Amino acid sequence: MKLFDVYPVNDITIEKALGAHLWDDKGTQYLDMYGGHAVISIGHGHPHYISRIEAQLHKIGFYSNSIHIPVQKQLAAKLGEVSRKEDYQLFLVNSGAEANENAMKLASFHTGRSKIIAFSKGFHGRTSLAVAATDNPAIVADVNKTENIIFLPYNDAEELKQFFQQHGQTVAGVIIEAMQGVGGIIEAEENFLSLTRDLCNTYGSLLIADEVQCGYGRTGKFFGTDHAGIDADIYSMAKGMGNGFPVGGILIAPHIHAKHSMLGTTFGGNHLACAAALAVLEVIQQENLIENAASTGDYLIQQLKEVEEIEGVRGRGLMIGFDLPERIKDLRKTLLSEKKIFTGEAKPNVVRLLPALNFSTEQADYFIEALKSSILSITQKQQA
Ligand SMILES: Cc1ncc(COP(=O)(O)O)c(C=O)c1O
Repeated sequence: MKLFDVYPVNDITIEKALGAHLWDDKGTQYLDMYGGHAVISIGHGHPHYISRIEAQLHKIGFYSNSIHIPVQKQLAAKLGEVSRKEDYQLFLVNSGAEANENAMKLASFHTGRSKIIAFSKGFHGRTSLAVAATDNPAIVADVNKTENIIFLPYNDAEELKQFFQQHGQTVAGVIIEAMQGVGGIIEAEENFLSLTRDLCNTYGSLLIADEVQCGYGRTGKFFGTDHAGIDADIYSMAKGMGNGFPVGGILIAPHIHAKHSMLGTTFGGNHLACAAALAVLEVIQQENLIENAASTGDYLIQQLKEVEEIEGVRGRGLMIGFDLPERIKDLRKTLLSEKKIFTGEAKPNVVRLLPALNFSTEQADYFIEALKSSILSITQKQQA
């Protein structure tokens, strides 16, 4: 059987990984500044992560949500503590799309309304409602299209106010990324987030913070929305939550009440996923990784701003983007082929840096030197 060919792939086979490094089948070492799409939060192969998953596997890997699962309760307690959302409730799933799907469904159940506001260039996943709320017609199939999603321009306060004034009573929720990742590392302005919070309060709608990419410490605070000092009604999480183990979830504010059968899942919250997610939070806490993301991120952003050939350096913590002018549009390819560094991209010309939260200033320096040398190499080839 052949694989269904849905991804453009690099001609590289990674066989081993440790910390911020990867090795291919020929033994070549790579620096990972992409983290498999913002997933690797505590670094590859962390010993505490391995031993916690291993220990859990020796006891029980999976049983369904029809019995008590103490490791789920442990995870909820630790997540409440680290995110400072002790009074929220946790529902566990397996991916970011599923987290958003359940967040929007819950907003509709809770309010008895059907409209969800989403924003231009937002990305929320590929399941039916999540993809409908994603501003990319190329990935939305006819069966996903729905009039229940309303797209408004990101960071446009006037449009948002006007929409609420006219249709506020129909709005179940607003879904927003505090920092758009796939959209190109674009931050929601703090005033815009506060306004969204206020409008949701006024009209009885729920604020859903999609923290799948910008959450879990990536921007130097636990949630991206924390920078604006607001609380969401529902936070969706995945990616960094399991450091590669498929686990996602939603944090649900205390004023939202659960009813049996409104949400459900077979695999979500299984023993092994909870052990992985607990190990991640323990490492984040013990190794002060959120503080490290903030300080190393500041340092890297400052260093990048001094590289004249790149433009629009932006981001927070270890969620960083910059634009490539046409002349050096192949920089990512050069970084990978000549310097053995993985980076991320956002179409059409944005480089995204999403390394693990324990990325060091020494590794940042190494990257800056490699970046400068790659730009020089492109220039020399163009002049030859
Ligand atoms: C902000 C955001 N939300 C949701 C998703 C979907 O997550 P998953 O691929 O785990 O379904 C992504 C994935 O890139 C994302 O960046």
